[in-house]
Amino acid sequence: MTRLVYILNGPNLNLLGKRQPEIYGHATLADVEAACRAIAAAHGIELRFHQSNREYELIDWVHEAREGAAGIIINPAAFTHTSVALLDALHAFDGPVLEVHVSNVHQREPFRHHSYVSQRAEGVIAGFGVQGYDLAMLRMTTLLEG
Ligand code: DQA
Repeated sequence: MTRLVYILNGPNLNLLGKRQPEIYGHATLADVEAACRAIAAAHGIELRFHQSNREYELIDWVHEAREGAAGIIINPAAFTHTSVALLDALHAFDGPVLEVHVSNVHQREPFRHHSYVSQRAEGVIAGFGVQGYDLAMLRMTTLLEG
């Protein structure tokens, strides 16, 4: 079985740890990547970890994942609430998709309560801070190990 997992991060997540720390905390995206890589290594999973502020790049990585990735973990950030194109791309991917949000989007502005990506995701984690990525990784290992 393929053991390659993509972790995709949407716009502004390059500023994790610096922007609105009262909402998103102080950990950086590099911290998130390091924690995910440690979990991946423990489970023999290869990771591709990406962030972009451009919708088309996220879509292109989903297309790339079609070529051999077993699963996708995605924090689409603001594209969560706007992007039919990202949803369509994820519908073209066959493996499990897990959606992560650092903040509890349901506690925030009404426009954050709807996610296009949730229509495709096997599960959604929100409000657990950056630990949500670790939990998604653990869930992904369970799904891939069958
Ligand atoms: C976010 C929540 C989104 O509403 C927001 O646009 C983000 C980050 C989160 O991780 O909590 O940029 O996806």
